[in-house]
Order: sequence, then structure tokens, then C-alpha cells
Amino acid sequence: MKELIAARYTRRGAIGVGALLLGGASARAAHARAPLSTFAEPTPLASPELVLSPGHFMKTLLRWGDPILPGGPRFDPRGISVSAVEKQFGYNCDYTAFFPLPRASNRSDRGVLTVNHEYTDGLTMFPSCDRLRAKMGLSEAETNIEIASHGVSVVEIARGERGWAPVLGALNRRITGSTPFDVTGPAAGHARLVTSADPTGLNVLGTLGNCAGGITPWGTMLSAEENFHQYFAGPPLADGPEAQSHQRYHVGVDIRFGWSRWHTRFDPRAEPREPNRFGWVVEIDPFDPAKKPVKRTALGRFAHECATCVASIGGEIVVYSGDDGPFEYLYKYVSNDTWKRGAPGGKLLDDGVLFVARFGSDGTMTWLPLVHGEGKLDAAHGFLSQADVLIEARRAADLVGATPLDRPEDVEIDPRTGAVLVALSRNDARTLDRVDAVSPRAPNRYGHLIALFPPRRDHAALKYRWEVLFLGGDPDLGGVYPDGVTAAGWLTNPDNMTVDPSGRLWIATDGQNALGRADGLHLLELGMPSKPRRFLSAPIGAEVTGPTFTPDGKTLFVSIQHPGEGTSFARPSTRWPDFDPDVPPRPSVIAIERDDGGPLG
Ligand code: FEO
Ligand code: CA
Ligand code: CA
Ligand code: CA
Repeated sequence: MKELIAARYTRRGAIGVGALLLGGASARAAHARAPLSTFAEPTPLASPELVLSPGHFMKTLLRWGDPILPGGPRFDPRGISVSAVEKQFGYNCDYTAFFPLPRASNRSDRGVLTVNHEYTDGLTMFPSCDRLRAKMGLSEAETNIEIASHGVSVVEIARGERGWAPVLGALNRRITGSTPFDVTGPAAGHARLVTSADPTGLNVLGTLGNCAGGITPWGTMLSAEENFHQYFAGPPLADGPEAQSHQRYHVGVDIRFGWSRWHTRFDPRAEPREPNRFGWVVEIDPFDPAKKPVKRTALGRFAHECATCVASIGGEIVVYSGDDGPFEYLYKYVSNDTWKRGAPGGKLLDDGVLFVARFGSDGTMTWLPLVHGEGKLDAAHGFLSQADVLIEARRAADLVGATPLDRPEDVEIDPRTGAVLVALSRNDARTLDRVDAVSPRAPNRYGHLIALFPPRRDHAALKYRWEVLFLGGDPDLGGVYPDGVTAAGWLTNPDNMTVDPSGRLWIATDGQNALGRADGLHLLELGMPSKPRRFLSAPIGAEVTGPTFTPDGKTLFVSIQHPGEGTSFARPSTRWPDFDPDVPPRPSVIAIERDDGGPLG
């Protein structure tokens, strides 16, 4: 293993990890600038409180249960109902996207915030829920509350004299686990998307497991359906046309929700094609609450962590997405047509090529097309059309020889260099006989970050170069950081990321609670020697998700997801953010600013 790491990290001479993006001679010459970040780091120890770097303050902007639509009642943790929840901010907030108002302006004091609600946790939501009931035994009413607490919130927000606050605006909207969606692209209307409730295969109810996402150049939000398989309660199908596919997606194997008890569409034995209607990237127009959201099937079906969208130099629309599972793959979609500035672009997400990544140990990588009729993606291997390839993108990627990774999560692009940054959060199942240059640790408990370099910033290119940026974890236990690290600054399990307007990379973690440390938000400056620094420590049990900056870099929105997770409504490990003895912990989006009004960090 040491040899593999050494071979990869010393490829450009003895300059170590992250050479190109951080400390390397070429980076020094091209981007020589002084580090911007001098802030003091908060303690990494887990606490019931959220702790910020000194000199900054936060305001809780949107909490689970806050009313966001007219008539929405105040949050009542002992009197939750579906009709209330449908007008309130949902559970377990994740990705956030900020769209300035007026539309396409650069305003940083007014906008629309769209927020994913990834999943629910009955144990901390419902007063009488215990561990056994949380999984398979929720009542019909509780189940329907869970379904309505999923999806996406669209909320107008504004910064007034008392700071940021939600506005009961005309654009506000709740999309839930039962909102009607259109389906477009090659799998739209395909027989494998038809169910007894929808003979057209074009009308899906709900979006589930919405983790991270992206913003299109034409001003819509992409939301990524991640762990969709956990909503379908088994046992797994032993045979039938979908058995092989369900097995590859762990449908009926890895179950978290017992909704099938009340809704047969979540029982894959009764409705074996309903799982095929989830695991897509969905597009939502934050400026038109009447517009039906759309599932874009050309981008493939897998546990999409994110949907990071960029217009390439040639005008093609490129969407990067990690498939967050152990030994899963990194994908990108490239549109066939090009985007014209100012034009709507949704159709560009229906006609294009899905590629999957193969990494070489020599620092090169290749994007392999998943196109029906090419190579093994043919009838002999069970693919009768491009729809089959997209519905079973994982199996197609297996057959073309993609490189299995350590849970690919968020993808961000460094706007100065065009480098594509990919968070790999962990892979406990990797064994020594399966390590390679891009996944050099077995087991990989702490995750790592890699950078991909498209030639001439051409995101439509088929061959890139790549390197490791850092290996997460305690340096005493194998963590490797390009320019060293402070005791507070080392991080594990990189998950969500964002690049701020001054080009600095912010990395949220999901996995430090297990080490007795708080999960946090860390900052790493690109283009210079830089140590990762901790900026924020989340309350105990929580992870930090969905970091987003306003265009002026002076406000950072982040979601604090699942505070108190692993405990219960009655005895939570924190009652953040209300700290009211009658109120359970509430997943919330916070707005962070600097005391003196300057850019963060
Ligand atoms: Fe929903 Fe991969 O985190
Ligand atoms: Ca995530
Ligand atoms: Ca991101
Ligand atoms: Ca996560």
C-alpha cells in the first residue's frame, strides 16, 4: 500500500499530495497570492452547541417545522399533521442553493433559497417512537408525515435590519415525497417506469433522498436523489425482470423505511418498477411555483450525491455526479447541443451522453461513454435500449470497466483553474487486495479528496489528469495534508463542498461524531501552500451540509442536518437550536456573517 501511495504522490517529483492545486511549483507561479484566512479555529470537541470561529455570528434562518406558506401553523412537536407539514419547512435539510432576487442580479440581500430535505428520523421526530417502531412500525399518520417532510423547500429570504429572515413570498413552495413530477429523457414513458398507478410511465409521485445538487446556468436547481433504495421494503425479489437490477441497487436489502405497510408502491414485490422511478436528478424552477418539477433520465439512475453543472468552453452543458456507495463510480453527463447565454436550457439535460470515470495509476483518467449498442451494452447483456442503460447505469458502468471508488460524494469546480474536486467520504469495505492509486487505503475509514484536471478547462474532454489532494483523518493514523494541519483542522469523511467567491474551498464533514469530535466545516485555500482550518463545529450528532455563499461572499448558508441523531425525542443529546425542554432538536439552515461585515473566514 505504501508503494502505491508513493508511486502516485511522487509522480511529479517529491512534491507530495496536492502539488498541482496547493503547494507545487507550477501552482505557486500561476496563482501566487497570500493566504486570506487567519481566523481562529473553534474546538473540535462534540458539544450540544454549534460553535463558530470567533469574530463571526449566526442566525437560525429556517428550522424544521417553521411555516413557509400562507396558513402554515406554528411548529407544535406534539401535534404534527400532514396538512401542517405541507406548509412548513421539512426535515433534515441538506443542499442549499441561493438565487438572487431580482432574477439574474448579483444581489446579496434578497433571494430565493432552495433546500433539500434528505430523509426523516422517526426517533427524534415523534414523541412515542422507539427504535423498533422507527424502522417498520410507524402509524399511517406518522408515515404520511414522514413522506410530506421529504423533498425540497423553496423559500424567499431577505436581509433586513435584524439580519436574514424568511419571507412569506409568492415564490415559496413545498415539494414533497408525493408531489407530481414529469419524466423526460430516454427513459421517459418506458415500460420499466410503468406502474399500476401510472400506465404512462411519465408521472411520478415525489422525490426522495435528496442529498446535494447543483445550479444550472439558466437559473434552475438540480436536486440529486441519493439513497432511494431505502424506501422500498423487501424481502428482495428472487426472480422476475427487475430482480437483477434491484440487487445491484440494494433494493429490498438495505431498508430504512417501512412505508410499504401503508402504501403498496413502496413494496417492490407488489410494484417492482416503482423503484425505477427514483434515483434520478430532478430539475426545479425556483422562479415559477406553478411549474411541474422534472426527473431528467438522461443523467442516469444511481445514488446521486450531487449534480454539479458547468457550461464547458464549447458550450456543452456538463453535469458531474458521484454515486455515493462503497465501490461505486463517478459520472459526468455531456449535452449534445450547446447552450446559448440567456436561453432556457432544460432540454439540454434530455439529449446527451452519460460517461463514467476510469482512473489510471499514471495520473491519467478516461471518461467511458454509456451508450446502448457500444461494447457490452447490448441485448446479449440485457440492454435493449438506451433507457435500459440509464435505468441500470450501475450495471452498465460495471461492464465498461469503470473504477470503483470510496463513496464519491460532492463535486466542486475551482473557477480559477477549472479543476474538478471530488470528495470521497470513506469505504470501510475496501481490502488490501483492492487498493489502487485513486483508493490507496484499506479500509478507508476517513475518506480523501481528489482533483481532476480537464485539458484546457474543457469539461467535455474524454481524457483528464488527476491527483490526490489530501487523505483525511488524524495525521497520527495516516491522515496526509499537503501543507500539514492543525490539531483542530484535520478532518474526516469529506462530504459536501462549495467554493466561495474568492476561490477558497469549504469542506463539510460527515463522520467525526464517531470519533468523539464534532463534524464541521473546514476551509482549504487553493493555489497556495495551505493547511485545512476548522471554521465551524456542529452540535453533537449533526453533520454540516449544503454550504452556499451569497455573491458578495459575506453570508454563508449551511444546513445543520440530524442534530441529536442516534438518541431520541424524549432524551436527545442536544436540543439545538431552540434549547427548549419541550422541543426536540430541529434540523435547520443557519446564516453566518462576520461581526465586522466583511467576507467570511
Ligand atoms: Fe446524503 Fe452521500 O450524503
Ligand atoms: Ca451528502
Ligand atoms: Ca456543493
Ligand atoms: Ca452524508
